[in-house]
Amino acid sequence: MATWSAPGKVFLFGEHAVVYDRPGLAMAIKPRVQVTVRRHRRPAPAKSPYIAQCFREIGVTGSVYVSSQMPSSAGLGSSAAVTVATLAAANDEFELELGREEIAEIAHRVEKTVQKGRASATDTFVSTMGGLVLIMEGSRRRVPPVNLNLVIGNTQVSHSTSRMVELVAEQLRLRPGVVGPVMDAIGSLTLEGVRTLDDPRSLGRLMDINHALLDAIGVGHPSLSRLVLAARSAGAFGAKLTGAGGGGCMVALSPKSGKTRIAGAIDSAGGRAFITNLDTVGTRKENDA
Ligand code: PMV
Repeated sequence: MATWSAPGKVFLFGEHAVVYDRPGLAMAIKPRVQVTVRRHRRPAPAKSPYIAQCFREIGVTGSVYVSSQMPSSAGLGSSAAVTVATLAAANDEFELELGREEIAEIAHRVEKTVQKGRASATDTFVSTMGGLVLIMEGSRRRVPPVNLNLVIGNTQVSHSTSRMVELVAEQLRLRPGVVGPVMDAIGSLTLEGVRTLDDPRSLGRLMDINHALLDAIGVGHPSLSRLVLAARSAGAFGAKLTGAGGGGCMVALSPKSGKTRIAGAIDSAGGRAFITNLDTVGTRKENDA
């Protein structure tokens, strides 16, 4: 039996733009998903298509127990975290000797197969490696970690990442002269954000602009706007939707001492808030449950 965990993620900048090869900045966050894999010749069929696909990819079979505090389908990368932790635990249990890079690669293949080709490597890479990751021209590299005080607000409005990605593709097809430059501007925000990581006030302002641009290309939602405005009024340096949009989650950058106040404001505006910060570790072995 082997138990491994993997973190979720938020996009600080650049969701949707990364699909069109513009830069983006994503960050691994707590909570973690924990997966236990046990050798088993005839296990019960896996409930999650991600787990079933993991076993198909690596050619073994086992029984799986998942424990997660992370909301699913909320744009926090829970399916990627389950995939990564399952592969890491199976790697350990079956002594497959896969390295982290390989786990990240297989996890991306699993997501792409289950989501029918529509998954960037962001979620699976960030969940495997942890830290702050700059996505640029198909490459992914970790940037030096910084301590950002984040408050996540879940609108509890369900969304479909693939539908939102399609919606943006449609906007781009209809209005390339408008939406293309918006994508460029989002890419520039990412690069400016990376240079501004030590100045939370300016970083927050850039997040506000990124939110407005995402709204402009049609991936906002009234529930996201409500939570973003509530967080800003409660003293956040900045706030934006995170992930595909159309529901799901927003993220606020908080002063060190204002997190509880901002979380309270998000809750009062109808969201579910939690306070989090950077996870630098990525997937890791846990004591067996
Ligand atoms: O909602 P999430 O966490 O799956 O994020 C989607 C991010 C997009 O940029 C819209 C798509 C992608 O694959 O990067």
